[in-house]
Amino acid sequence: MPSEFREKVKEKVSEIQQKVYIKDEVLEKIVALFLSLKEGTFPSKKPPRGILFYGPPGTGKTLLMKTLAEKLGLSEPIIIRGPEIISQYYGRSEQRLRQIFTLAKERAEEENLAIIFIDEIDSIALRRDLSRGELEPRLVGQLLSLMDGLEKGVSKGHVVVIGSTNRPEVLDPALRRPRRFGLEIEFNPPDVNERSEILKIILGNYAPGRYEGIDFDKIAELAVGFTGADLLQLVNEALLQAALEGRDKITHEDLMKARIRIKPSALREFNLEKPKDKSKELNKEILEKIGEIATNFSANPHFKPILLKPELWHYADKIASAIAYKVCEKRECPYIVARAGRFRSRWFGETEHLIRQFFEKVRRYQPCVVYIKGLDAILDLAEEHLRGAVVEITGYLDEFRDENVKVLLICSISSHYEEETSLIREYFEGLSINKPNFVAD
Ligand SMILES: Nc1ncnc2c1ncn2[C@@H]1O[C@H](COP(=O)(O)OP(=O)(O)OP(=O)(O)O)[C@@H](O)[C@H]1O
Ligand SMILES: [Mg+2]
Repeated sequence: MPSEFREKVKEKVSEIQQKVYIKDEVLEKIVALFLSLKEGTFPSKKPPRGILFYGPPGTGKTLLMKTLAEKLGLSEPIIIRGPEIISQYYGRSEQRLRQIFTLAKERAEEENLAIIFIDEIDSIALRRDLSRGELEPRLVGQLLSLMDGLEKGVSKGHVVVIGSTNRPEVLDPALRRPRRFGLEIEFNPPDVNERSEILKIILGNYAPGRYEGIDFDKIAELAVGFTGADLLQLVNEALLQAALEGRDKITHEDLMKARIRIKPSALREFNLEKPKDKSKELNKEILEKIGEIATNFSANPHFKPILLKPELWHYADKIASAIAYKVCEKRECPYIVARAGRFRSRWFGETEHLIRQFFEKVRRYQPCVVYIKGLDAILDLAEEHLRGAVVEITGYLDEFRDENVKVLLICSISSHYEEETSLIREYFEGLSINKPNFVAD
């Protein structure tokens, strides 16, 4: 990139980042694409026709669309919401789509670049086997043919479509082919540093001069699982409370109090359990070990893998819950429970994908206690189709250990076979104790 162009990209990126937090490298790519298209310097004759923003609700997809529309210097942005296109009258929806694309092509001729923003694109591009009526398949067909014909009848300039969705899996797969939505950008719930940045942006934009003495890092650390939308709600709650008490500025304490009233939406995608005190049901020896593990972790969170050996299979749920309970007594910490068998899939590559998704989320919610039940359901090297899963899991265990990810990872296995594999011995410290003396509930 010539340095002048680089400077321009950097400038735009920081302008946009004052409104919405998106990682530098992601935003730079988008901005570079659009600026070079606008200046007619894009290096290839066939730039991407579409970009897909996908990710859970409240992670800034719509906000980024609006901010791009505002900051890219387009005369009048073309923004449509998928559900608004849908009309009951036969043929009307397709007609509206065609009109929008025609308008965009005219703009592109005049200004070199036009962007069509389609928010909630899933409502008009549903996978054909999922559609209930006859309208949806017609709309997908129309959208596909309009995207394929984007260069037709345009002597100069480019049209790019940006679509956003929180359900990428329901989109018609034909839409996600390379020349259509060739570029996909995933939006994730923010990690602790990102939460701190987003909180600063939100306060700076929506409550300038109306806050004081806020320890952003502290709030971010405690707001585990909060999305950008949750942080906005947090600020609003605090503002409202301060107003009720006749104050015009919010403080650190206001945010701390508001935090307790808000349920973090990112954690809803997990099976979160409330850990229970199971101490009455476990014997003294186990309780001592549990106490030791929990005290160490809560005093100094660090990566700690623990294996509950097969002798403990019937008590594994109780032990895991008791450890999490003890940790939560000392510090706030999500308890994430997963059944390893759920990762198994008959689709090629799907098991690995599910494992990756899971561990990436876990990484984002540290410090946390994680319990994976029946790990042997996916760790069986004898099953050829599980080899990829084993590679994936051991890869994450290595990474978590090297990066010292703050996760107390408890895994249980149901049979002896796996215990003998060097795999498990290498990664886990076994927690193997005499069977507990069962005391009735
Ligand atoms: N990355 C972010 N940076 C700054 N603010 C954010 C961010 N993410 C969310 N917010 C705040 O949350 C609000 C809601 O986010 P937005 O509507 O963009 O979410 P979305 O990803 O489009 O969700 P949905 O999938 O439900 O449409 C924004 O208006 C903004 O105030
Ligand atoms: Mg949205």
